[in-house]
Amino acid sequence: MDSWEEACRSVDIKDEPEITKAQREAVVKASFMVAAALAKSGRPLTDGEFVKSCMMKVCDVVCPDKRQVFLNVNLSRDTVAGRVCDLATNLQQQLVRKGRDFIAYSLAVDASTALMSVFIRGVDSSLCVTEELLGLRSMHGTTTGKDLFEEVSRCVNDMRLPWDKLVGLTTDGAPEMCGEKSGLVGRMREKMREDNCTGELTTYHCIIHQEALCGKALNMEHVMSTLTRAVNFIRATGLNHHQFKSFLEELGSDLPDHTQVRWLSQGKVLKRCFELREEICRFMESKGEDTTELRDKEFLCEVAFLCDLTSHLNALNLQLQDRGSVVTDMYAAVRAFKVKLRLWETQMLQGKLSHFPCCQTMKEQVSTAVFPSARFAEKLSILGGDFTHRFADFEAQKSRFELLRNPFAADVESAPTNIQMELIDLQCNDSLKAKYVSVGAAQFPRFIPDTMPQLRSQAAQMLSMFGSTHLCEQLFSMMKKTSHRTRLTDELLHSILRISSARSLTPNIDELASMRCQVSGSD
Ligand SMILES: *[C@@H]1O[C@H](CO)[C@@H](O)[C@H](O)[C@H]1NC(C)=O
Ligand SMILES: *[C@@H]1O[C@H](CO)[C@@H](O)[C@H](O)[C@H]1NC(C)=O
Repeated sequence: MDSWEEACRSVDIKDEPEITKAQREAVVKASFMVAAALAKSGRPLTDGEFVKSCMMKVCDVVCPDKRQVFLNVNLSRDTVAGRVCDLATNLQQQLVRKGRDFIAYSLAVDASTALMSVFIRGVDSSLCVTEELLGLRSMHGTTTGKDLFEEVSRCVNDMRLPWDKLVGLTTDGAPEMCGEKSGLVGRMREKMREDNCTGELTTYHCIIHQEALCGKALNMEHVMSTLTRAVNFIRATGLNHHQFKSFLEELGSDLPDHTQVRWLSQGKVLKRCFELREEICRFMESKGEDTTELRDKEFLCEVAFLCDLTSHLNALNLQLQDRGSVVTDMYAAVRAFKVKLRLWETQMLQGKLSHFPCCQTMKEQVSTAVFPSARFAEKLSILGGDFTHRFADFEAQKSRFELLRNPFAADVESAPTNIQMELIDLQCNDSLKAKYVSVGAAQFPRFIPDTMPQLRSQAAQMLSMFGSTHLCEQLFSMMKKTSHRTRLTDELLHSILRISSARSLTPNIDELASMRCQVSGSD
């Protein structure tokens, strides 16, 4: 049977004409497209061979006369890997070209994992925003502020971006990042001073890393570590326990340890821990574990408090992660959150817990004397202070943000001198006012005429500022998805991540395919 099929095939092939030049280009283009799809989906590159085998099966049924052409689509692992690198290089070249037109840009840097990532958000003179991965570097050992600065400098210089167009810097808030002297922020400011840059660098530390907030600022790390120990115990021994099955599934494959409690910051997990508190204790007791601490009333109140607070922080985070939002929206969200914190503090002191449902539950179970209202109110106050500190640069830029949020209501006298004339012209122009009303604050800057260059430049700076380092976070989860990464070289891993994180740019596959055909004649 097999040999009969073989015989038929060889006859087929003999009858088949050689593939034409146009077909050859199509075949190369197809392999680029499959390589891009594999990279985007985070699948192993060896899946190319499987795709090819499926393709041949489909071809044999649907269009057997095209067999020879399909056979030429090379999807071997090495070819796919080569294509992936070409695609990433193409994206990088496009970004360099775009970067030449940026009139303002911001950077977001994250080094919370072994992979340091730098994202850029650049705005060109027509106020179009390009948001892309600028650079990646696998970090080994401890990372210092100097390492970070050198890496970021390299990215900026490789792209030949002028330092005086840098307006914003978002970091993950780690000390080596935000240190004013030897941290990345301090060194960037120093570099800009050396280069005689006139603009201010607006920096802030994003709140995505909530464990830092909840743990360190609130001094509640002991709650996290006790819960982490309990969860690790269940993970090790209770995998088949029906009550924990879905709980453990929610945890996913993240292996928590006592130093990294990133998973706990996902409010959902914390909430499940709170809901399952009785089951967790009973299970651990059945295994002979000591649960004195887990059963402690005050400890449970603290878990409830963290649970409520992280759910509020998560809601804020979601607002901040909205891709379409600009820095003014973000500023509004942060300001609102600060107001809420003050309200919660007052209500906590008064024993009104409607915005803290888990605390409400606990308070009903323990006596009012046990529930530490005053201590929690103080923690809310500390968090408010931490927010003020984190967003201090924001506060300083408040008038600038507000100016662009509603330029028609802005007070000309208190506006920066260099924009006062343009601002008056703008405010007195009825057709621009009508435009503002019809398109809204977020879109309006694009309609500020070229005759108002200072206002346009202000708008570009504002548009370039990052909402948050959510891009870095997304990259991190994509990296996790690329679970076969251990077998990848750094270059290949970085290429895959560049392709899968691409937002504003798409690889120019036509160009790549025709180039490839010219170089090799066939492929
Ligand atoms: C900055 O200004 C100082 C003093 O005018 C000058 O000596 C120095 O060369 C300038 N640096 C750059 C990078 O332009
Ligand atoms: C108002 O702005 C529009 C749009 O830029 C412009 O065409 C028009 O000349 C301006 N009108 C005045 C009176 O400046």
